[in-house]
Amino acid sequence: MAENSDLTKFQNAPLSTGVSKQQLTIGLFDSGVGGLSVLSRLAACAVPARYIYFADTGRCPYGNRDAAEIGQFVEEIVGFLSDFKIDALVMACNTSAALARGHAEAAVGSSVKLYDLIAPTCKSLSRSRFSSIGVMATFGTVNSQAFSKGLRGFGYEGDIREVACPRLVPIIESGKLPEHNAMCDLEGALREYLTKLAGMEAIVLGCTHFPFVAPQIERLISEDAQMAKLFPAGLTLIDPATCLVDDIFPGLNEMAKSQPVDLSLPAFKYFTTGTVRDFERTAVSCVGRIGGCREVSIADISNYHLKPLDRFSAFSVVL
Ligand code: DGL
Repeated sequence: MAENSDLTKFQNAPLSTGVSKQQLTIGLFDSGVGGLSVLSRLAACAVPARYIYFADTGRCPYGNRDAAEIGQFVEEIVGFLSDFKIDALVMACNTSAALARGHAEAAVGSSVKLYDLIAPTCKSLSRSRFSSIGVMATFGTVNSQAFSKGLRGFGYEGDIREVACPRLVPIIESGKLPEHNAMCDLEGALREYLTKLAGMEAIVLGCTHFPFVAPQIERLISEDAQMAKLFPAGLTLIDPATCLVDDIFPGLNEMAKSQPVDLSLPAFKYFTTGTVRDFERTAVSCVGRIGGCREVSIADISNYHLKPLDRFSAFSVVL
């Protein structure tokens, strides 16, 4: 594996080392529900932790925004989450990580470990058997070539093809996925993107929203002969959150990574810059019921004053 200063800074020590507290507090953020795909993977691990999730739904999607704007959003959100005395911060939004990781590094305190999904995924895939790897992601992530650069940086020599998939986030965020019209839109979009990725052996779901449509991708390829022909060697979908889990909580066996999860327990707190009603409705279509969600207006992110109800001490945390 090639080492360079860019990549080594991403290689954090596992979260379990150097943290003396028994229970970790982990902050995550995304433009919307996408990061819930990451939260549910982390929460399924047998590690005592509590989680604060920030969804910037009021400014979603991030995928077409420029780096300076995303950098400003990231600084605001990191400041907000830092007030919770977090031990770790997960950039559960690949667009933010690709375009504004430096802003998060500057805004997060030195005692907080910072994680994203791009480096652990590239590191893990660079050791894989795949001779070609496709990436489905937002415009911002694809244009930054964060995954290509990461894979090459870790020594991967196979083919890489990155494809922007801007139609998927609005469909997922609509919360209408189980409905017929949304499913038709989704299928049309997936056909377009998968055609561009024909021949790849693995596809990285490089936007945290996309694992929520992995079943539809798998169904399309297994049930439609034309689509199946595009991937003669078969296709493996990669959810980067699985790579993050191994990075953040190393050494867990499969059973310890797949505990039952109830994201409505008091160990989970959610904030949205949209409306609680919309966020909860969309979340249900992705991960089931969540609870304890509060609204933060965009203007208030930087000077939000924690209310007693926001503090974990107000709850008995049971995992
Ligand atoms: N889920 C985010 C990502 O991983 C952002 C998607 C968006 O808002 O466009 O890139």
